[in-house]
Amino acid sequence: MAEKWTPTTWREKPIQQVPDYPDADKLAAVESALTRVPPLVFAGEARSLSRAMGDVADGKAFVLMGGDCAESFAEFHPDNIRDTFRVILQMAVVLTFGAAMPVIKVGRLAGQFAKPRSAPTETQGDVTLDSYRGDMVNGMAFTPEERTPDPDRLMRVYNQSASTLNLLRAFAQGGYADLNKVHQWTLGFIADSPQAERYQDLAARLDETMAFMAACGLNPQNTPQLRETDFYTAHEALLLNYEQALTRVDSTSGDWYDTSAHFLWIGDRTRQLDHAHVEFMRGISNPIGMKCGPSTDPDELIRLIDTLNPDNTAGRLTLISRMSSDKVLELLPPLVRRIKSEGRNVAWVCDPMHGNTIKASSGYKTRPFDRILGEVRGFFDVHQAEGTHAGGVHFEMTGQNVTECTGGAVAITDADLSDRYHTHCDPRLNAQQALELAFLLAEELKSARTGMVPARAAS
Ligand code: PEP
Ligand code: CO
Repeated sequence: MAEKWTPTTWREKPIQQVPDYPDADKLAAVESALTRVPPLVFAGEARSLSRAMGDVADGKAFVLMGGDCAESFAEFHPDNIRDTFRVILQMAVVLTFGAAMPVIKVGRLAGQFAKPRSAPTETQGDVTLDSYRGDMVNGMAFTPEERTPDPDRLMRVYNQSASTLNLLRAFAQGGYADLNKVHQWTLGFIADSPQAERYQDLAARLDETMAFMAACGLNPQNTPQLRETDFYTAHEALLLNYEQALTRVDSTSGDWYDTSAHFLWIGDRTRQLDHAHVEFMRGISNPIGMKCGPSTDPDELIRLIDTLNPDNTAGRLTLISRMSSDKVLELLPPLVRRIKSEGRNVAWVCDPMHGNTIKASSGYKTRPFDRILGEVRGFFDVHQAEGTHAGGVHFEMTGQNVTECTGGAVAITDADLSDRYHTHCDPRLNAQQALELAFLLAEELKSARTGMVPARAAS
């Protein structure tokens, strides 16, 4: 029998990656205020995403997750939200065409503000301060004031998330997601790409399909699917004080939902079986994810699944593999085989970002485009060999023209990184690199679907 769960039982467990708030009373006051704010998402929406993720687990859909490593107060601007949303839509159209199945769109947006760190403190010269843990906790500048965890930031995150989500909902339902428009943007991208020829074929076929649909009388005016889309939000459920405050009972089902986002995931550093994050996540009814890095042990994974998805419901749990391009072929198959042999229903998603971070000679943290592509290709190969479904991808990306990851058709070099390196945490794909990846993945998806060996030119 599982122990009784409430939104506060996590507080009795050991916990990793938590800030040390100097003012406990202020923290309690902010948490209390957050229990009274309106939910950001509605439980019925989370259930729709659970169903969609169930289709991913069953091999009938593909999921695209993408957005900032860390949202920030400084980068909060409608243009940034619009541009990230736009690239995700463009990628989704390209992937839909390659996969010939629905592509579920999930943004790392409207709540992705807290970061796990490799060390609790940072030392510069003879000064040691708390590490920066994301704008939800403290500030990035290396001063005692900024680095002190401040509970008021929780309310600011809630407010920024509410207005971000409001704009995303308007874009998704208000005409901005019109398929013809998205297609025209993509044609613009191809015209400007040094790799135009490579993408021309898929784009031409997409063009023909759109013309054919129009000739049949299907257009955005009479077909809602062509003019609006479902768009979901997700973030790492790291700062449980915030997640608990937004966890409410759904009046229609009587179940608990974390209303801070549709989808929440457990990070690779906080997935210990008897610890607080797993405890919290087992009790919420949202669709949830768990990152699986190189240290994931198959036996432990099964025990985690017993806890997180005891009813073996397809769509409840997504495993987000992030092994690195070098290790994916070695480390992923034992996990996939074990899950398959035990008949566990999970959706498999590939995060090709977090295992492939390196330090460039210039000193910047970066991720080479070819390693990112390499890990996704390895992920596809493993699933093809095991007869399982490569269900989706999870990227750190932005709609801005940043220079944070090296490579891609425009060939960003180590020396270019300093030009527009704006991330508040890990390096993100820029708009061009993200869309380019979508085209390359569409080729993979098509090969997987048709049983052909993919033609893998270097990127
Ligand atoms: C993240 O997704 O931002 C992250 C920290 O990932 P991971 O837990 O896989 O390291
Ligand atoms: Co990251």
